[in-house]
Amino acid sequence: MKRIALFASGSGSNAEKIAEYFTNNDEVKVSLILSNNPKAGVIDRARRLHIPVLLFDRHTFYQTDEITELLQNQQIDLIVLAGFLWLLPPSLVKAFERRIINIHPALLPKFGGKGMYGHFVHEAVVAGGETESGITIHYVNEKYDEGDVIFQAKCVVEPTDTPEDVAKKIQVLEHQHFPKVIADLLLNP
Ligand code: GAR
Repeated sequence: MKRIALFASGSGSNAEKIAEYFTNNDEVKVSLILSNNPKAGVIDRARRLHIPVLLFDRHTFYQTDEITELLQNQQIDLIVLAGFLWLLPPSLVKAFERRIINIHPALLPKFGGKGMYGHFVHEAVVAGGETESGITIHYVNEKYDEGDVIFQAKCVVEPTDTPEDVAKKIQVLEHQHFPKVIADLLLNP
């Protein structure tokens, strides 16, 4: 059995799609959802899905090894960042080298880096007059959005699209591809 730990700071729609995708799968399981945000929508989703939740604060995350040790003790095979907004501490990145992935709602290396998340990305894409956008799934290193790319998918951005229109197209791509890319990484390495 391969075990996934999901990190999320927000609504958690991707976390839910991933958990649903592996429900009743006897090879892969979402073991744990971790969040820094006690108000995050992902927490209600996790409860509904009967997945344990761990909430942590900045001190625990950056000043102790508690999270890394817990993930090691639970024999986590893959850490998946699904709308998680904090930079990972170097000790966690090192302990799970090439076993941490992130999804970004744009075609990296464009529209990445600190502060580029969620709707800020779609606003920048529209303001920049881009004709296409997309999603990037990549390995995580110690910098924002800079690890090796695993997968990208594109969508058209029409001249009349608002950032909300782009967000909807991106969410469709994320829900369609993210669980499958995870399955591929775990089961066909
Ligand atoms: C997703 O669009 C994800 O790509 C983005 O946050 C959203 C989370 O949505 N991540 C980033 O912007 C990271 N830089 P969700 O909470 O509904 O899954």
